[in-house]
Amino acid sequence: MHHDFWHQRWQNQQIGFHQDEINRFLLAHFQALGLQAGQRVFVPLCGKSLDMHWLLAQGYQVVGAELSQLAVDAFFTELKLAPEITQSGPLRHYRTEQIEIFQGDFFALTQGQLGSVDAVYDRAALIALPDEMRKQYVQHLMSITQTAPQLLISFEYNQSLVPGPPFSVSKPEVSAHYEPHYVLTELASTHQEKGMKGQYPAEETAWLLRPR
Ligand SMILES: C[S@@+](CC[C@H](N)C(=O)[O-])C[C@H]1O[C@@H](n2cnc3c(N)ncnc32)[C@H](O)[C@@H]1O
Repeated sequence: MHHDFWHQRWQNQQIGFHQDEINRFLLAHFQALGLQAGQRVFVPLCGKSLDMHWLLAQGYQVVGAELSQLAVDAFFTELKLAPEITQSGPLRHYRTEQIEIFQGDFFALTQGQLGSVDAVYDRAALIALPDEMRKQYVQHLMSITQTAPQLLISFEYNQSLVPGPPFSVSKPEVSAHYEPHYVLTELASTHQEKGMKGQYPAEETAWLLRPR
């Protein structure tokens, strides 16, 4: 997926992926990670997700990575916060007391820039990427987070009916990516007859990934 694709999405406000409510799997299952307030949660490809508002309200430190400056600016505006902004290599680093966002290409973010994280929350990051990029995403994510535990939400539908994003990522594919490094637990799954763009059946699954 080219960067221009996402920049245009944000420019034209074609952000159907953005949820107006906190994700129900996050609400129901984040506690499975067993974190304490003050611990650091990484949200890759974070957009301006309200899920980060919820994580902040629970007292976690939140670190996001997002390509679009429009998204990052909107995120801080909606929170009524004025971050300190510095350049960090090719990325822009937005920082307040409880939040950091690295704006730029996720694949350019290093472990040194990110620092230590206690967990990863992946909603619509893995499934935002086409097949060949997903392998790179998984490798890079595990590398920069040192295989931190994850709450991951995957999404599956008949890919031949409609192109992504979101892309269909099957349960076997999730296992193939992560099983060598994590113990995977399927926490919950929901099937919706018109879950893909209001037209096609889709299944959404929440996973707990614990490092082996
Ligand atoms: C499907 S959206 C999901 C956003 C967010 N996780 C949510 O739940 O609303 C994917 C996001 O990833 C961002 N993105 C795509 N490629 C990226 C990259 N290489 N580095 C950083 N962010 C990227 C896009 O701009 C977009 O905001």
